[in-house]
Amino acid sequence: MATVAANMRDEGIDVINFSVGEPDFNTPSHIIRAGKKAMDQGYTKYTAGPGMIELRNAICDKLLNENGIKFEPDDILVSNGEKQSLYTACQALFEKGDSVFVCTPYWVSFPEFIKLADAKPIYVNTISHQNYELDFDDLLDKVQDNVRGIIINSPSNPTGGVWSKEAIIKLLKIAKNRNWVIISDECYERLVYDGGFISTEKLNRDYGINAMVLTCMSLSKTYAMTGWRIGYTAGPRQIIKAMSKLQGQATSCANSIGQMAGIKALRGNQDCVEEMKKEFKKRRNLMVSLLNKLPGISCAMPQGAFYAFPDFSVYLNKSVEGKLLKDTFDISEYILQTVNVVTVPGDGFGSKGHIRFSYATSPDTIEKGIEQVKFALENII
Ligand SMILES: Cc1ncc(COP(=O)(O)O)c(C=O)c1O
Repeated sequence: MATVAANMRDEGIDVINFSVGEPDFNTPSHIIRAGKKAMDQGYTKYTAGPGMIELRNAICDKLLNENGIKFEPDDILVSNGEKQSLYTACQALFEKGDSVFVCTPYWVSFPEFIKLADAKPIYVNTISHQNYELDFDDLLDKVQDNVRGIIINSPSNPTGGVWSKEAIIKLLKIAKNRNWVIISDECYERLVYDGGFISTEKLNRDYGINAMVLTCMSLSKTYAMTGWRIGYTAGPRQIIKAMSKLQGQATSCANSIGQMAGIKALRGNQDCVEEMKKEFKKRRNLMVSLLNKLPGISCAMPQGAFYAFPDFSVYLNKSVEGKLLKDTFDISEYILQTVNVVTVPGDGFGSKGHIRFSYATSPDTIEKGIEQVKFALENII
């Protein structure tokens, strides 16, 4: 959809884009200045493979002060974005013959990371009216002897759902009993609008469960730093060591300038994070209220990230301009072709009937775009 939209833009068409997966703000200026200074001071070379010690120390301080979890620098691996962290974790942990649980709807890369490790994803349902928490009955029904782990993502892309403490504790206990690793993707940890965020590993330790947890985090969304490519993993030292060996052969180390800027991001003033979060919350409220006014559409209030995930299933198998809308790919394409609004079909996330709307865009754009979608939907019979 993004490619089609880019082509339309090239043709001079005014496209409204609700497909963005990154903050629309620029990186805060004090972080940019740190990146410029790093270059001037010659931090333009390879760094230590697992990441500069100054950055790993800053990450340990952050994990202790913000998340209440104590780690040593040797428990941390800095990567070129959290995407590399997750990919490397799957490469280090899984192999042919293994199965790994993925919660549906899922971020599109999770099943691919598992398949690239020659393992098999098993899709497990979540409960849409319960913040997309795991459906534990479905999980237990699908258990096999060769399951090695599960990837979880709260707050979630694409649903914005945030799991309760109880759901995470329940999963931690099951994982401990069955010797599964939990890969906890927490890249949207700082974008939780109602209530607080608790890291999976924090609950693991507080409740003495002692399951194997890999915590994957990122500077991308928190500090609007998607292009700087800095993410990291915190977890059991032997896994971090194996991941570090693999990463060393793949990409040597993370980008040196990004690492220096990352130190500033983590150690510097955090007001910028709160300001962006405040703005996202306003936009979330606007987006969800407008979506709920569309004919036949219902949209649950997402508690985190910057995505709304409304239910468009009333439009499935209806016709427009002689064409049958058989899935959300068809609905999203129809909306794009008719009113130039880009959305992301839920079928791509393993979810039939839903469509993802990113609200990482201005309130004016949200109002204008949803008005256009309303116009498009009125023609469907
Ligand atoms: C759920 C999820 N995990 C991980 C990432 C990767 O983030 P990074 O920019 O740190 O590679 C994204 C980016 O969109 C994401 O949505």
